[in-house]
Amino acid sequence: MKKKVLAALLSVAMVATLLAGCGKKEAPAEAPAETEAPAETEAPADTDAEEPAETEAPAEAAGDFADKKVGVCIYQFSDNFMTLFRTELENYLISLGFAKENITIQDGQNDQGTQSNQIDAFINDKVDVLIINPVNSSSAETITDKVVGAGIPLVYINREPDESEEQRWADNNWDVTYVGCDARQSGTMQGEMIVDLGLEKVDMNGDGKVQYIMIEGDPENVDAKYRTEFSVKALTDAGWEVEELDDQVGNWDQVKAQELVSNALGQHGEKIEVVFCNNDAMALGALQAIDTAGRKVGEDIFLVGVDALSEALENVINGTMTGTVFNDHISQSHSAADAAVNYLTGAGNEHYIGCDYVKVTTENAQEVLDSVK
Ligand code: BGC
Repeated sequence: MKKKVLAALLSVAMVATLLAGCGKKEAPAEAPAETEAPAETEAPADTDAEEPAETEAPAEAAGDFADKKVGVCIYQFSDNFMTLFRTELENYLISLGFAKENITIQDGQNDQGTQSNQIDAFINDKVDVLIINPVNSSSAETITDKVVGAGIPLVYINREPDESEEQRWADNNWDVTYVGCDARQSGTMQGEMIVDLGLEKVDMNGDGKVQYIMIEGDPENVDAKYRTEFSVKALTDAGWEVEELDDQVGNWDQVKAQELVSNALGQHGEKIEVVFCNNDAMALGALQAIDTAGRKVGEDIFLVGVDALSEALENVINGTMTGTVFNDHISQSHSAADAAVNYLTGAGNEHYIGCDYVKVTTENAQEVLDSVK
């Protein structure tokens, strides 16, 4: 597992938060502060280069879960970020003592009907715990009722159900939790990376405003909503004037984003100073469009994404992306597996298990890349 290396990337405060079982979500607004600098010094001494994840493994000894059945529903296998997430989740579950043949991971193919059938099948199969990345977070209430009704503990991941749904879990004391990061933080970090460049550099046409385009993930996802809102808010909070030239839904998809950004560049040309993408897959598509249009990131346009996919990290290192934000699939998948274990052992969980994003610029991109490889 890669947790130890990653710890090096987190500030003291963040490590403390993680060790404390991950922070409760807070009413947000403010930028979540100084998370960008990798804190080399507090990296735990890495005596053994490989495995095991003894520090974060929950109580039970390996082997106790060998006969436990885990059902995992992923909204769509073709999503790059969720592919990293599910691969790490499976490996970590195995490292905790779950048997590979008892871990079943299903592809919802971005269709709630398909996923609901998969959940029904898991219930019929009497799985011991379910980990669900819902296709539509708005279906969470129906999913929860079904799963809780069958007496199966449930860990939601990545797509956060709304507040009233989370409140129901607490009010009824159900074995249901959500594991994920607060998307407001990632949006704020995207905006801050642009602000850190300085207005003079970003406002290339010198009209006193920053002209940007926004490429969003799927509209019902809070990650998309918050990243869209908080990235721009970081600019206005810095006292910058902004002008939105275009705001389009790219559904987290590289090909779609390439098409959208290509259209926007055709329409608005040199007026576009910043391209915000809600994730890296779309930022990679945006970069293809930027290249084709003969523009140069860092020289006549700026581009930020979220996730820290390896390809995006390479681009940050080469200067072909301004920055990204590390969406820690390692910490999130481990927390999800740990939460599943806590339900199986009866230890239980809080109803919200958070984590922190990390800003990635040229300064720490190589380090982040080394840690996720
Ligand atoms: C990630 C996206 C991903 C989405 C899936 C987000 O947190 O940043 O890359 O497509 O989750 O729900």
